[in-house]
Amino acid sequence: ANEEFTGNLKRQLAKLFDVSLKLTVPDEPSVEPLVAASALGKFGDYQCNNAMGLWSIIKGKGTQFKGPPAVGQALVKSLPTSEMVESCSVAGPGFINVVLSAKWMAKSIENMLINGVDTWAPTLSVKRAVVDFSSPNIAKEMHVGHLRSTIIGDTLARMLEYSNVEVLRRNHVGDWGTQFGMLIEYLFEKFPDTDSVTETAIGDLQVFYKASKHKFDLDEDFKERAQQAVVRLQGGDPVYRKAWAKICDISRTEFAKVYQRLRVELEEKGESFYNPYIAKVIEELNSKGLVEESEGARVIFLEGFDIPLMVVKSDGGFNYASTDLTALWYRLNEEKAEWIIYVTDVGQQQHFNMFFKAARKAGWLPDNDKTYPRVNHVGFGLVLGEDGKRFRTRATDVVRLVDLLDEAKTRSKLALIERGKDKEWTPEELDQTAEAVGYGAVKYADLKNNRLTNYTFSFDQMLNDKGNTAVYLLYAHARICSIIRKSGKDIDELRKTGKLALDHADERALGLHLLRFAETVEEACTNLLPSVLCEYLYNLSEHYTRFYSNCQVNGSPEETSRLLLCEATAIVMRKCFHLLGITPVYKI
Ligand code: ARG
Repeated sequence: ANEEFTGNLKRQLAKLFDVSLKLTVPDEPSVEPLVAASALGKFGDYQCNNAMGLWSIIKGKGTQFKGPPAVGQALVKSLPTSEMVESCSVAGPGFINVVLSAKWMAKSIENMLINGVDTWAPTLSVKRAVVDFSSPNIAKEMHVGHLRSTIIGDTLARMLEYSNVEVLRRNHVGDWGTQFGMLIEYLFEKFPDTDSVTETAIGDLQVFYKASKHKFDLDEDFKERAQQAVVRLQGGDPVYRKAWAKICDISRTEFAKVYQRLRVELEEKGESFYNPYIAKVIEELNSKGLVEESEGARVIFLEGFDIPLMVVKSDGGFNYASTDLTALWYRLNEEKAEWIIYVTDVGQQQHFNMFFKAARKAGWLPDNDKTYPRVNHVGFGLVLGEDGKRFRTRATDVVRLVDLLDEAKTRSKLALIERGKDKEWTPEELDQTAEAVGYGAVKYADLKNNRLTNYTFSFDQMLNDKGNTAVYLLYAHARICSIIRKSGKDIDELRKTGKLALDHADERALGLHLLRFAETVEEACTNLLPSVLCEYLYNLSEHYTRFYSNCQVNGSPEETSRLLLCEATAIVMRKCFHLLGITPVYKI
């Protein structure tokens, strides 16, 4: 059959084996094809592992087959002929090794070169998702944990968007709660004329927060006024509302600077947004019999947890959990999201597990976290300094994100100047490259780790131009671009008309890796693991290096085909960069 590449090699092969399973063992219709990429690649590119399991099912039922290898042979025999498969062989106890056709692989890459890499986008079964990420707290520090959430959340959103999911990027900022009482009272004290308060007047909100907290802890009178201020604010008193809005605005301007640098887009729907709906949602849970009285508070008891989930405090106020339950209700019912993803440090895992469980009990969600509507908590570990302790800078005890990004840029600019680039490039080029490399390095160093583990923040490591770093990868991409430029060929023309062949073993291995791009993105999405994509990208550059050192490109008889392979590699690398939120570099 004439077969188009549909983006997922594994699934496409599984479909063929499904046909042969139905033909070989018509009495076992429920057996699913087991297809996996081969680890070694020596005997084949993929393998089908059904024969052994199938044998144990059918051996007692008077089968004609004499053992698992014979089952394997039969499966191969009834495999529909396909352009995609070059050959199959049965090995050992019955593994079926599949060798893909190099011709088919080459043609599939040619198609991508003509029609664009978006034709390789995976299709997921969800239409709309919420990614709740970044979500700092007003007036408190936006710390490196929020940086991790911002970077990881943005990448997840980008991968889902590439997979044709509509993503609602939500910044669930902490803009409500009792701390506003003291902040507002302190504001009134320092600035009796609230209208005249500007960002510069307050200066640093974190310092302002600390000062007000200090006063709150020491001064009984102030404390009392602060507590009344909360009541007034929540009751909607316009003077208090206005002061609250002012404080939020100042924070917002600060946050926006970080987002702008990182080129991250987010829509703020803070905790306060859900406030008008909370009472109704808690009443719904109450009417379902979930809510009980406990020591003056209203709580939900959940199996498997030592403590109940508090949804109304003893003073009648709402809390973090009541807001999150309400936000979930809103996202499911008003926004019609089928998948809701929360990105925070692992320290909050219990909170998420508890309110997810409460939502399942209420019948809002199915009983597992794989079927839709689906919720997932994407937890991540701590950022550590090189001393192995929680990451802090010397001067202040918190790390200012803007300073951190500044330093990454400054350092990468220095490295470029050391290589004499300030003499070759315009100041703009130098600046843009320094920024792309510096910010890219910060993002990649975060994303490449399994997100659950703690990671050590080290400028020296992340800005190294060797090893698994953004710098190395960005330069690798720029080098490919320069090879293409040096050929003097019109690559856009070549993309449309040129023929590609994968005759050399290293060309073939690179081509196969390129074709695995879509299934990798799909895996990274379904398992919510950006590190899977980073690993793919790093391996891609390794495959490319092997190809480039063993196959001459410019001036060889295979020049056209090999230039196309270079171009395909550059395209897929750029798509990876894009999904990781990294700006590519074209010159080094
Ligand atoms: N503002 C919280 C914090 O800084 C994170 C909010 C995460 N999102 C949520 N829906 N709970 O810890």
